[in-house]
This record gives sequence, C-alpha cells and structure tokens, in this order.
Amino acid sequence: MKALVLAGGTGSRLWPLTHTTAKQLVPVGGQPVLFYGIQAIVEAGITDIGVVIGSTGDGIRAALGDGSRFGARVTYLRQERPLGLAHAVRVARAWLGDDDFVMYLGDNFVIGGISDVVRAFRAERPDAGILVTRVPDPSLFGVVELDEAGRVVRLEEKPDCPRSDLALVGVYLFTSAIHEAVAACTPSARGELEITDAVQWLVDHGRTVGATTITGYWKDTGNVADMLEVNRCVLEGLSPEIAGSVDAASEVVGRVRIEKGARVERSRIVGPAVIGADTVIRDSYIGPSTSIDANCAVYGSEVMFSIVLRDSRIEHAGRVESSLIGRSVRIVGTVRTPHAHRLVLGDHSRIEVAV
Ligand code: TTP
Repeated sequence: MKALVLAGGTGSRLWPLTHTTAKQLVPVGGQPVLFYGIQAIVEAGITDIGVVIGSTGDGIRAALGDGSRFGARVTYLRQERPLGLAHAVRVARAWLGDDDFVMYLGDNFVIGGISDVVRAFRAERPDAGILVTRVPDPSLFGVVELDEAGRVVRLEEKPDCPRSDLALVGVYLFTSAIHEAVAACTPSARGELEITDAVQWLVDHGRTVGATTITGYWKDTGNVADMLEVNRCVLEGLSPEIAGSVDAASEVVGRVRIEKGARVERSRIVGPAVIGADTVIRDSYIGPSTSIDANCAVYGSEVMFSIVLRDSRIEHAGRVESSLIGRSVRIVGTVRTPHAHRLVLGDHSRIEVAV
C-alpha cells in the first residue's frame, strides 16, 4: 500500500503567508503540520509516500528530503496548477500504478493517527473508504449522507443546505477503482476536479464505499483560527524542556520548551509554549498556547495564543493575541505623534488594530 500526501494547493485562506510559504510547513507545537501526517502514515506501516507539490514545492522538498528521517521513501509529484484533489490523483496516476493507497491532505491533523482505519481497510477492502466526523458547521466542509445501514449515499462539497452533520475528514483510502472515477470527473462550479465527485461516481456505479466515523480530534488547518487551535491542542501534550537560558529575573510556568540558544531575560513564560532556538525574549510575557519559532526577538511585548514564524521581531508592540505571524516580520511600537498606524503589508494581509 502507498500513501499520497497532498501538499500543493492555493492556500488562499492563509494569504499572504502562503504566497511564500507552504501552509503545510507552518509549525504547530514546534513542528510543521505536515510532519504529523507523515508520521501517522509511517506508523500505519506505509513507507512509500508520494507527495504532491505545487508552487511552494521547494520548501516541502527541503523539509521532507528523501523521507529517510521519517523512515519513509518520498517521491515528489509536481502538480503544475492546483486544480483540485481529484486532479492531484490524476497527476499521481503513473506513480500509484494499481496499488491501494491512503490519500492524506497535508494540512490536516488527526490525533490518534490512522493505523486503525488502514488496518480495517486492508482487512475489508471496499473499493474506497472515507472518514467522517460530526461538525457543528457542515456547510464549510465536504458533507456525507449515509443511509440507515451506514452506507454512503451522497457527498457534497461545501453545500448551502447540508443533508447531514458528517464532514469528510482529509484522509481517504482508495483501491485502483478510484482512477476510473477520477478520469470521469469534470470541473466543478469552482473550477476544480473534486474528490467528492469521484467518490460519488463510485457510489453511483455500485462500488462499495465504506465510511468510518471518527470521534477523535480532527482539524483542517486551512484557516488561521484552526491553525491556532491545532497549535493549542498539540502544545497541551508538550514535554517541557529548557535547553536555552533563563535569567534569575524571569519566571517559567507550566509546560514550556525553550530550545537551544534561546535566551529569556526579565520575562514571564506561561505554558504551554515553545520558544525556538536562538530566539530572545526580553521584558516580555509569552503564552499560553504560543509557539515562537527560531531566531525571533520579542522585546517589551506580550504574545499569547499565537504562532510566530522564524526571524521575526516584535518590539514594544503591546499585546499580540490570536495571531499568525509569518517569517521575517517586524512589528514595532512607537510613541511618536501623531498616533497613527504606519504599515507596510504584503498583498492580502489582514490586520486588526486596537483603537
Ligand atoms: P484545500 O485546503 O482544500 O485547498 P487549498 O490549499 O487550495 O486552500 P484554500 O481553499 O485556502 O485556497 O486543500 C487541501 C490539501 O490539499 C492542502 O494540503 C493542499 C492540497 N491540495 C493540493 O495538493 N492540490 C490541489 O489542487 C488542491 C486544491 C489542494
């Protein structure tokens, strides 16, 4: 059995971050979200992994390499344009051959891994298997309708009027039957080849599609709120470790990891929180539920419920909360008059200023 990990896409809900960085590489709880998926696949006993990449592919290649550090063999499959999940399967057609495979969306996060569902699929071997979970807001997801016997009847991508509260989780199990279905797909209203249409095609053509309802934690980190929520959740299980330095005037409370070369001076860190390698925290308050990446500087500021990517500086900025801050960003407070905001923001940036 192989695994197909989708790590391309547009990532428009995370613009401008995704103009330069793959969203699958945003660190949650100290490591890229993509790594959790790769680890879950290897734990399920699958080591032959195809990774679909798009315009941010160089970063993905640099992060995963040949896969050996995960105990896997990674093959990169270039998708020239993000034309949909079913299109990604078409791109991977030759590499997949006629093998069964798990398709894993690289920005998805499933606590508890996928070993059980892979084992069940191997034992029962339906033509396809999907994972579903109950959500309060199904119209934001692919929605699945099951009959009384639990068989898949209908799938719809982000419907206005959902027929159930069962959302499709971003992990699919396929036999080679999916290729005929994918070949039959035509672009949807949003111009993509939808995997939901391909699975619907299997159902309509009398193929068996199994559905497993998972009750564990699952999140698609495609938007800022969910990315921060996954970060919070992962940090809850953090093993505390102080490899950097903390001066006598500082206080560290709860689950906190301070990586090598990091310095905490005259500050308070309230876990769960990660302070990345070579980052300096001075006269500041950090946490809870906050990941500060490597080589950052936070001076005279408060940062909580946030993710800050590497090489960024936050100086005298007051309180920064529930924020996702990219690489090499500078946020500087000023006492100059007039009290105006002076901004240099990339395309599609979003800021909320306290007035
Ligand atoms: P989505 O989050 O559904 O799509 P997206 O990345 O285009 O994001 P947005 O809606 O914010 O613009 O994609 C799920 C996963 O699949 C994600 O890891 C990106 C990946 N993907 C591909 O690899 N190729 C594609 O054509 C698409 C649409 C997604």
